[in-house]
Amino acid sequence: MSAAEGDAAEYKRVARSGQVDDGWVRRFYVDDVELCVARLNGKAYATSNYCTHLDCLLSSGKLQDDGIRCSCHGSVFDLETGEAIYPPATVAIRTYPVKEEDGEIFVAMTEADKASEGPRRRARRD
Ligand code: FES
Repeated sequence: MSAAEGDAAEYKRVARSGQVDDGWVRRFYVDDVELCVARLNGKAYATSNYCTHLDCLLSSGKLQDDGIRCSCHGSVFDLETGEAIYPPATVAIRTYPVKEEDGEIFVAMTEADKASEGPRRRARRD
C-alpha cells in the first residue's frame, strides 16, 4: 500500500480547549505520540514534544512572541512551521494541524506520523 492509500490524517481529540489557556503550553498524547500543545494569541498549536537539539520536553518550555522557547538551552521554534528560529537547535520540530470545535482541541495525525513519533523516538537500551 502506498503512503497515500489509507493513511489520511485523522483528527483526534486531545484536550478540552479550556485546558490550554492563552500563553500556556501543556503535554498531551494521541495514542503513544507525545505532543506539545500550546495556545498563543488565542490560537492552538500542536508540535512534537521533543526539542531537536537534545530532546528536552517542549511542554516544559515557555511561549514568547515568535514561538516556543525550549527550557534547556534556549532554542526557539516557530509554532506554525516548526522551524528552528533561534539556536542551538537547527532542525525543525514536527507540527500538526489543529482544529477546535465545541470547546475541544483536535490534532490531525496519520498512521505514518504515529509510527515515526511514538512512543518515544529513542528507545532505551538496557
Ligand atoms: S534541548 Fe532544547 S535547546 Fe537544547
